Amino acid sequence: MPTALLPPVADEIARTLASLDLGTVRATYLAQNEFVYFERLFPDSVIAPMVEEVRQQRAAVNRNYLPGHKKGGSVSYYTLREHAPAILTLYRSGAFLDFVRTVTGAPADRCPENDPHSCALYYYTEPGDHMGFHFDTSYYKGARYTVLVGLVERSSSRLVCQIHKDDPARRREFTIATEPGTLVLFNGDTLWHKITPLGEDEERVSLTLEYVTDPGMHPAKRFISNMKDAVLYFGFRSVFARRHPERTT
Ligand SMILES: [Fe+2]
Repeated sequence: MPTALLPPVADEIARTLASLDLGTVRATYLAQNEFVYFERLFPDSVIAPMVEEVRQQRAAVNRNYLPGHKKGGSVSYYTLREHAPAILTLYRSGAFLDFVRTVTGAPADRCPENDPHSCALYYYTEPGDHMGFHFDTSYYKGARYTVLVGLVERSSSRLVCQIHKDDPARRREFTIATEPGTLVLFNGDTLWHKITPLGEDEERVSLTLEYVTDPGMHPAKRFISNMKDAVLYFGFRSVFARRHPERTT
């Protein structure tokens, strides 16, 4: 049963976004090759209920390790959809979707219900947990935009973002501590990014939200995408057994 949303959190999200000068935000986003970030954008009234959901979902974390590429844990949209009302309130927020569309200048929308990445938590909890440099490559026919929100940051781990990766003259690197409420928005096909390794007795948890301009996907790409999600992120049981929640009894 999908979780109910939280109107007070939705109101606070809308209030926060209304306080931004979107013209300046959009200009910065374009000047940085489709990448922008805000330190501690969301107040505690929005973030605290999400941090509580991070705590509640620890038992649902699926851990993965691919040498040289990534090590960490994650909780998929399928689980959050049922058990994380504050996080779902952000993902389903009309004001937030308008914000994404305005900043990107693209007719972006939420991902289809059968995408476990739509909205997911990423747990870095063991020494060495990390994610190597990558693009958030779109398997969809259209563009894919990623929003990353910091929720727990008790670590030396950093989000490193490189714009203009293939143009040395314009290449620029940003190193970001994703503190609670910090928000990063980028085009997944253009921003080269990584998470540096976690140290001893540290913890970092972030939320990502995905938006696409065309939810269509070739069946072969859907298969590749599901295999990647099963192996690298959420586990086979989550990706393949729970793709059609409306059919569960
Ligand atoms: Fe990524």
